[in-house]
Amino acid sequence: MTSEWTRPDHVANYLAMKDDVPHRAAGEETLLAEVPSSSRRILDLGCGDGHLLAMMLAHCPEATGVGLDMSPAMLERARQLFAGNDRVTLVQHNMDSPLPDLGTFDGIVSSFAIHHCEHHRKRELYAEIFDRLQPGGVFCNLEHVDSATPAIHDRFLEAMKGTNDVEDPSNRLLDVETQLRWFREIGFEDVDCHWKWRELALLSGRRPTAPAPEPAPQRIKQVIVMRHDLKMRRGKQIAQGAHASMSFLSRRLQREGTIQLNDLTESQRAWINGAFAKICCRVDSEEELLEIHDRAVEAGLEVQLITDSGRTEFHGQPTRTCLAIGPAPADEIDAVTGHLQLL
Ligand SMILES: C[S@@+](CC[C@H](N)C(=O)[O-])C[C@H]1O[C@@H](n2cnc3c(N)ncnc32)[C@H](O)[C@@H]1O
Repeated sequence: MTSEWTRPDHVANYLAMKDDVPHRAAGEETLLAEVPSSSRRILDLGCGDGHLLAMMLAHCPEATGVGLDMSPAMLERARQLFAGNDRVTLVQHNMDSPLPDLGTFDGIVSSFAIHHCEHHRKRELYAEIFDRLQPGGVFCNLEHVDSATPAIHDRFLEAMKGTNDVEDPSNRLLDVETQLRWFREIGFEDVDCHWKWRELALLSGRRPTAPAPEPAPQRIKQVIVMRHDLKMRRGKQIAQGAHASMSFLSRRLQREGTIQLNDLTESQRAWINGAFAKICCRVDSEEELLEIHDRAVEAGLEVQLITDSGRTEFHGQPTRTCLAIGPAPADEIDAVTGHLQLL
């Protein structure tokens, strides 16, 4: 996973090229402008050699800072940078585990680090960050994000050629939209992508100063999870998704011959009488699809797994293409699928 960063050669290679990353300074400048210079406590997640934390402390003259990183080699470089500086505390911690208790902060920043966490962990981490911000505190993540298409990803790699950077196997890139959606769902306000150059983006949100409003009435939805690795035509995907969506009704009809609205669960009735809210997410393998299936079953949710007969595609092989979860309360489904990318 993230073990690359415990290797001194990997760390040295990154530090040698990091200043050559195109437009990095523009991203950092935009980040600095988001954090009030009156901030008193700053946390830098995945601080590396302390480069961003040093900029933050220069920008916020009254602040103390905490730099957190998992890599001993990186922390050694940060220790050298901050030698004799009593404004800085360095903490060794792997962000794959919940953040340690470090108190609360006016600003939490991170540059090019959180994309090394798995997607579900990114979402959890964003919620932990929200909890550790003072009301009104700001979170800024200058991040390596996913491209919209493989062709755009290739153009990014082309643009990075001059840096001697190679694709880091510990990258877990995720698109901007999904991450901003998570920020909003968690409760951040003023959520936006303030700067972007190809796969480098500044994502930011603020913890509200006022208490969060009463939660909205429970939303009912259905989530369709589609395999993206099969590279199905759009029409095929729509057909499979439609099949999955209606299966909670059609399979029951086939079994029971007839059903009344009253035979359905409260959530199913609310969904049918409402707007039929549907969300489509993607997974990248059959294994991932089945993992989601099993987690939904464990959570007691209605799941319909679709296996295409393979008559027109997939070389005659019956193939699991997608599944539908729900209709069910949105928060129950989100606990299973909330980390997935939208299709
Ligand atoms: C690309 S470097 C960025 C370093 C620094 N923030 C910068 O902008 O130069 C990624 C950093 O994230 C750290 N990192 C990666 N995965 C981590 C994890 N799971 N927990 C803590 N730190 C992690 C690495 O050790 C490394 O210092």
